[in-house]
Amino acid sequence: MANAEKTHAALPYTADEDGMLLIGGERADDIAARFDAPVFVYDRRLIDQTVARLRACMPSDLRLHYAIKANPFAPLLEHMAGLVDGFDVASAGELERLSQHPQSDLPVSFAGPGKRDSELAAAIDAECCVNLESEGELNRLAQIARQKGRLAKAAIRINPPFELRGSGMRMGGGAKPFGIDDVDVPGLLQSWPKDALDFQGFQIFTGSQSLSAEALSEAHGNALRLALDCACYAPKPAKIFNIGGGLGVPYFPGDKPVDVDAVGASLAAAMDALRDQIAETKVVMELGRFFVAEAGVYLTRIVDKKRSRGTTFLVTEGGLHHQLAVSGNFGQVFRKNYPVALANRFSRAETDLETVNIVGCLCTPLDRLGDDVDLPSAQVGDIVAIFRCGAYGPTASPSGFLSHPACQEILL
Ligand SMILES: Cc1ncc(COP(=O)(O)O)c(C=O)c1O
Repeated sequence: MANAEKTHAALPYTADEDGMLLIGGERADDIAARFDAPVFVYDRRLIDQTVARLRACMPSDLRLHYAIKANPFAPLLEHMAGLVDGFDVASAGELERLSQHPQSDLPVSFAGPGKRDSELAAAIDAECCVNLESEGELNRLAQIARQKGRLAKAAIRINPPFELRGSGMRMGGGAKPFGIDDVDVPGLLQSWPKDALDFQGFQIFTGSQSLSAEALSEAHGNALRLALDCACYAPKPAKIFNIGGGLGVPYFPGDKPVDVDAVGASLAAAMDALRDQIAETKVVMELGRFFVAEAGVYLTRIVDKKRSRGTTFLVTEGGLHHQLAVSGNFGQVFRKNYPVALANRFSRAETDLETVNIVGCLCTPLDRLGDDVDLPSAQVGDIVAIFRCGAYGPTASPSGFLSHPACQEILL
């Protein structure tokens, strides 16, 4: 643990008297033994704390939506349904995952380029709001709605003229496959097909994985104002202004957690300044990783320990086929280490530290889980724990690559 704390933002995990990592009150070795395979362990109490913390510093009428692409594990979705005010899906497959929890009647939006006709039809059937990514998509949705004799809920996803500065993934500003350019929005609204589409509002998603309160506040304020400008041309008052989210997670050494108090205070000021104009409109913040990343630990056993030309390698039975992001191949330019520790020697004041490279079992040099990490001297059978793995894990990784066993998941 000392190693992880030295370089990464503090972790919310403890160990028992044997030095064994505890997750959700359970020993990591017990969990690993139960699954006999690499496993993602999600701690629901940490998710609860994160959502509560965010709510405490955001305007009380801000709606929090969960983008399920971050983690669509069924028990976790069920848990999230009790915490958030809505969901965002990015495919009919994700919509289907949500529909397996019919007890949740929270609003759902569907964003993402390239929606097929069958997906648009599924969205209409599910009464989900389609966030339109192009004029062509608008026309197809209207046509399908007419064929069904239904009114489809639809919002415009605007490609804004600004971006979320410094974000890990920029989703707005410039030429983008996402959303409709802001300059084209007034024209589309003025010719809105009222017979087929029930106008809901706007979504402006400018980026993801930002740790800068200043950049986030600027993007949220800009999004609010742009949505308001566009609303003048709308066929009816907007019910929803989805201003995106973008709150990041301190994955790497030196990263600092987002100052959510500052983001909340700035958004409250922006919303207050526009209070009269948005009285009838729900302002939505849409987040994925921020809710769930901290609550997830990836556990994988060491199957081999070897030396090669002076370097020690710990070879695990997991790898990038379960957790691509940790290997650095999911949007990173230069690979950096996630927080990592030996689960079975998590809290002791260790004296026998050694510098190791942790790798996965795939026969590719891309499969790196930790470079030059100082860990207590590890043995075959020990368990490597990688932290902040609750988002973009199994479903964002190439699970079929090399046909190794799939990982397991559990929510505690
Ligand atoms: C439209 C949309 N919503 C939500 C998200 C979730 O982003 P994050 O997990 O960083 O909060 C993304 C990520 O790409 C997105 O494209």
